[in-house]
Amino acid sequence: MTAGDFDAYGRYVNPAQACFLAMVGRGWRFARAEGCALFTEDGERYDDWLAGFGALPLGHDPPALRAAMSEAIASGAPNLYSEALNPAAGSLAEKLLRATGWPQGNVHFCNSGAEAVETLLKTAIAATGRSVIVYVSGGYHGCTLGALACMAEGLYRSPFEGAMARFIEVAWGDVAALEAAFAAHAGQVAGVLAEVVQVESGVRRLSRAWLEAARQLCNRDGALLLFDEVQSGLGRTGFLWSFEAEGIEPDAFAVAKGLGGGWVAIGAAVLREGVWTRAFGRYDRAEIHASTMGGNRLACAVGEAVVSIVSDEGFLRAVRERGDRLWAALREELSSRECVENVCGYGLLGAVRLRESEHPWLTWEGMGMPDFAGKPTAGPIAIDRLGRKRVLAQVCGHDWSSVRVEPPLTVDDAACERFVTAMSAATSFLDGVR
Ligand SMILES: Cc1ncc(COP(=O)(O)O)c(C=O)c1O
Repeated sequence: MTAGDFDAYGRYVNPAQACFLAMVGRGWRFARAEGCALFTEDGERYDDWLAGFGALPLGHDPPALRAAMSEAIASGAPNLYSEALNPAAGSLAEKLLRATGWPQGNVHFCNSGAEAVETLLKTAIAATGRSVIVYVSGGYHGCTLGALACMAEGLYRSPFEGAMARFIEVAWGDVAALEAAFAAHAGQVAGVLAEVVQVESGVRRLSRAWLEAARQLCNRDGALLLFDEVQSGLGRTGFLWSFEAEGIEPDAFAVAKGLGGGWVAIGAAVLREGVWTRAFGRYDRAEIHASTMGGNRLACAVGEAVVSIVSDEGFLRAVRERGDRLWAALREELSSRECVENVCGYGLLGAVRLRESEHPWLTWEGMGMPDFAGKPTAGPIAIDRLGRKRVLAQVCGHDWSSVRVEPPLTVDDAACERFVTAMSAATSFLDGVR
């Protein structure tokens, strides 16, 4: 890799993004990464509190994943088992299902979170012979068209409106709205798609009452309950899957991001016993939902190593304990800040929600970026301040007033202390300009 390759990204891959990054002083050129740290070409160290939007549960380049990849490559076995029995996929599927407590279930492999969500939606439609998908407002499920149809309204989906007629949105957390959707489409609902912990709308968790209602309505009407665990799964909330904390099980759920440990692209739909068979268990359907690279040996080897580590009860306990210490320290440090509305966190997934300033200059128009007119600025300003303290972070995708808190699950106490100090300085700055 040469220095020119960074410029090539701006020229050939995403000019508007590269220009924006340069304009806001975030055009960093990271040349090395290890654990929870990124290093620029000049050797400056940044703490990574974004962790690949949750795709780095074990941090950058963990030795266990390097070993798993080396072994997979050295084995001489095929990486792709096209039109043949695939032992790598079989082994990872068995591991995922045993860890979930669904030993008779099935797993479909693909390459991303959006594809895993598409698998849930298509499975529900094929299994039930129905076509209505009910989804929860404020979600983020990916950027393919079907997944996008379940996305919160706004920036990500507005150019594609119109193609989404059979997708019915219900207000987040509203049991009556869910009941009304089932009443209006009785016998037509194929599935209900939800994130137990919805990250991009400020990291909020659905109540047990809502989850129970969803489970009962699906049972009664013959629809499938589908959870998106792409960002909240694999130990992120201190449980292997976020739904475990509430004790409500779906019929199928989507996994991706962390399953590839930041090294490989892999997604999976994990399905309860009988669901896959109902949808695709006929000879003429056995290969109609497929992915060329899905289930390749290298990706599955990484997936197995990740699942072994993050499903260990000691690892999960450590995530919960580290998270508890972090949220307590943040709450204490930020308690006197006027600009802080609240701090929420589950395991090592959380957010600091900020109040917007009334100051006329602190608008996107005031800062010379009218493309974002009307969007909150408090979160992006906090992100800028964190960056100056060499902490890489980001706001939530649909809620720019919330600074997401999502480090690698292996983050240590010293990095947590640095984050609390940097957030303290960022919010002190925001209080000063209110
Ligand atoms: C909850 C959730 N679902 C699905 C996706 C889509 O995953 P991918 O970007 O791998 O397609 C994301 C990505 O951020 C996500 O957060």
